[in-house]
Amino acid sequence: MTRTRLRRSLITVGAALFAIASVTAPATAQAPHAGLPYQNPALPVADRVNDLLARMSLDEKLGQMTQAERTALNPQSDLATFRIGSVLSGGGSAPSPNNAQSWANMYDSFQRTALSTPLGIPMIYGADAVHGHNNVVGATIFPHNIGLGATRDPALVQQIGRATAEEVAGTGVNWDFAPCLCVVRNDRWGRSYESFGEVPSIPTAMTTIITGLQGTTLGAAPASIMATAKHYIGDGGTTGGVNEGNTQLSEADLRAIHLPPFKAAVDKGVGAVMISYSSWNGVKDHGNHHLITDILKGELGFSGFVVSDWAGIDQIDGQAGFSAGDIDASINAGIDMVMVPTDYKLFISMLRTEVNNGHISRARIDDANRRILTKKFQLGLFEHPFADRSFTGTVGSAAHRALGRQAVRESQVVLKNAGGILPLSKSAKVFVAGKSADDIGMQSGGWTISWQGSSGNTTPGTTVLQGIRNTVTGSGSVRYDRNGNGIDSSYTAAIAVIGETPYAEGAGDRPGGMGLDQEDLTTLSRLRASGVPVIVVLVSGRPLDISAQLPGWRALVEAWLPGTEGQGVADVLFGNVAPTGKLPVTWPQSASQEPINDGDGKTPLFPLGFGLTWPVG
Ligand code: GLC
Repeated sequence: MTRTRLRRSLITVGAALFAIASVTAPATAQAPHAGLPYQNPALPVADRVNDLLARMSLDEKLGQMTQAERTALNPQSDLATFRIGSVLSGGGSAPSPNNAQSWANMYDSFQRTALSTPLGIPMIYGADAVHGHNNVVGATIFPHNIGLGATRDPALVQQIGRATAEEVAGTGVNWDFAPCLCVVRNDRWGRSYESFGEVPSIPTAMTTIITGLQGTTLGAAPASIMATAKHYIGDGGTTGGVNEGNTQLSEADLRAIHLPPFKAAVDKGVGAVMISYSSWNGVKDHGNHHLITDILKGELGFSGFVVSDWAGIDQIDGQAGFSAGDIDASINAGIDMVMVPTDYKLFISMLRTEVNNGHISRARIDDANRRILTKKFQLGLFEHPFADRSFTGTVGSAAHRALGRQAVRESQVVLKNAGGILPLSKSAKVFVAGKSADDIGMQSGGWTISWQGSSGNTTPGTTVLQGIRNTVTGSGSVRYDRNGNGIDSSYTAAIAVIGETPYAEGAGDRPGGMGLDQEDLTTLSRLRASGVPVIVVLVSGRPLDISAQLPGWRALVEAWLPGTEGQGVADVLFGNVAPTGKLPVTWPQSASQEPINDGDGKTPLFPLGFGLTWPVG
């Protein structure tokens, strides 16, 4: 069973089990051992950690290093029985109904179970809020990172981090598996849209999102969510842009291209680092002691904890599932918590064996626990273990959506504007076409409500078409037909909103062509045949191979994956704002140029940093 299908089946079963568990969980968890040093918030965190560590059995320490997917915890009481320290929602893994209140209830139910253990160590709950709290229906979905990179606006990105933290906190979740600080070097890679840009300076600048998520000090203010710098290291540099592939670089080049964003993240106090599935010169990152312990923990001084990716340790020996060798290699390399995420009983049993036979030292186990517990104390989980319901109402709030609209405006990159056709008049007679024009799912991309994302009306928001309709006024008019049927020469312009259908991770790898799909090409032909000027709005997670079609277009705007606030696209098209977006990646003349990056001597269609504008007013 592939990972995708396994994920989906787990999620279905779990939704049903959760409904039962939330009814049977104890009403309130008794506060065990109140008054002991580790329970005293007035003491320094280091003292609390030392006191708690001294009271923990080996099994309690092994449990803290174990992260289980919510749907795998069957029965839910296993969370307490096996002293598990962390629960996660994989992509799209949500309670039913999927809304903020239901998430908070789910989180509290798991936490009550965790607190029922003798030492009452709270669990920490992780989820991928990579462009807003994207697993939750009704949440504000911000542009994916590649669009935020186009804004070149670190202050805006910090605000997005804060807004995301409020929505995440309101659902109980206290650990965000974000930001992805990958440096995308080959746009064939299915995770290109998770990168802020192809040069280290852009993701480095955007580490401000960590301060937005955590606050200036983790846990010092309400709605402080622990951030995760991922995926360490080199995921965006794999040969051929193959997801989870092999990055073949000298150490000097690996350090020059892929390390700076992680250094910036560590300097900003990021609480966690997630290891990349990829290999460096043939060695899996998940087992690389030099990368994790020597460089990340030693040289950079990272004092948070290192978490594996989803079943990431399984890949170390190249065999299916995790082996004793995988466990030894990963924990001894410096991984502190393992996202198992399903067979947690077997993992704990095998980890115990590897400690008892001396393959993993007690000191390594204690170091991992010290790191994990330090973050739990700093986050305030011992004092405030339950969802902060004062933030639940911020999920999808007008203020957050306004911020999302601003981010969409700033991320638009105008690549062509022949004859100054843009900005359009608000009283224009426009024809809108394209599969991506009226589809929230399409404009949000992967990691939206489900892991892979999907087309359709998946969550409340404003489509690009709705934004256009909201903007055209007076004698203006808007007609929409997905395929362009009905267009004639009477229209001022035809706006074709086209591009990629949603995908995530390896499903998005494009080893072959990177051109438009047939539906879009057919729609464009129909529009072009009318003789009406064609303005293309491209909804994609990366540059596409559009050189052949570009001469027939009057204008081209790269919208990236804007999320729920499509009004921001219309704001640029009709001149509510002047465009300021700049390419965060080089745009190739053809897919055969990949990898193509700034300074490599190749001649692109549009260079890194390109973006047109026009006078305001
Ligand atoms: C995925 C991704 C990672 C994500 C994790 C948990 O496979 O690689 O980015 O945080 O699993 O969903």
